[in-house]
Amino acid sequence: MLAAMSNETTPVRKAVMPVAGLGTRFLPTTRSVPKILIPILNVPVIEYAVREVVNSGITDIAIVMSRGMEEVVGYFGERRELVDILEERGRTELAAMQRDIASLARIETIYQDEPRGLGHAVLMARDFVASEPFVVVLPDDVIWSDVPATRQLIDVRTAQGGGSVIAALEVPDDVVSSKGIIDGEEISDGVFSVSGMVEKPALEDAPSNLSIIGRYVLEPAVFDYLEEEHTGAGGEIQLTDAIEATIGRLPVHACRFTGHHADTGNPGGMLEAALYEAGKDEGLRELVRAAISEWE
Ligand code: G1P
Repeated sequence: MLAAMSNETTPVRKAVMPVAGLGTRFLPTTRSVPKILIPILNVPVIEYAVREVVNSGITDIAIVMSRGMEEVVGYFGERRELVDILEERGRTELAAMQRDIASLARIETIYQDEPRGLGHAVLMARDFVASEPFVVVLPDDVIWSDVPATRQLIDVRTAQGGGSVIAALEVPDDVVSSKGIIDGEEISDGVFSVSGMVEKPALEDAPSNLSIIGRYVLEPAVFDYLEEEHTGAGGEIQLTDAIEATIGRLPVHACRFTGHHADTGNPGGMLEAALYEAGKDEGLRELVRAAISEWE
């Protein structure tokens, strides 16, 4: 039986964060450190994702990972010994920050034992999601904004009467073939009614330059397609295809969110993210300026 659509007033409480993968672009570090624990300055990428969804009203998070990546969830553990030592040494503010990290949300581990694509990773979270609308966050896509990007998507879902909402940004031509691309019509400022989606098209086949960015609010109806395990682009089970399969049956919108985005999935994007953070601190700005001035 096909899953029914939840009501637009159903609160969105759950988030799925797929993080499995070898992290080849960050070798050799990823020989021993999961990609998602690599920091922007001193804060790991996964903490940005968790804080964003918590600030958007999410209370329960499932991190979908490969075996051996347990430290990703361990990061959000209590670390009582560390907290005790910090307190003994009078570092109360630092101790409070550690307690805060451990109390952000309920976070659980789900394993994806085979690398069969993003759609397959999300499928592993089917029991966790059950029959509620849910969020998918790809933590490599870091977004800084006043209203958290996930919240912006949830607000579009409410305004549009339910259904799925995908984060989107226009990208240059040379990026199109490495992204999911959206076909749709802008129905109000930054909100698109989606009529099609295609994963990693050749530039000449792409319907637009509007790229999927790693934030989704989804209806559990996407599992109807994922369960059938169709293979799509790259021989993988694609989330893009599963969302596309619901078009016509359920509303699907895209939201050109406001905020600053960096793709920290590659070292250049990570550097850009670090510079963006550095820009917020006068001391670090000076340091960056001084370092750059030495370039020829
Ligand atoms: C995934 C999605 C793609 C999306 C991208 C955003 O691709 O499949 O549709 O545009 O994330 O970061 P990946 O980067 O995992 O290949």
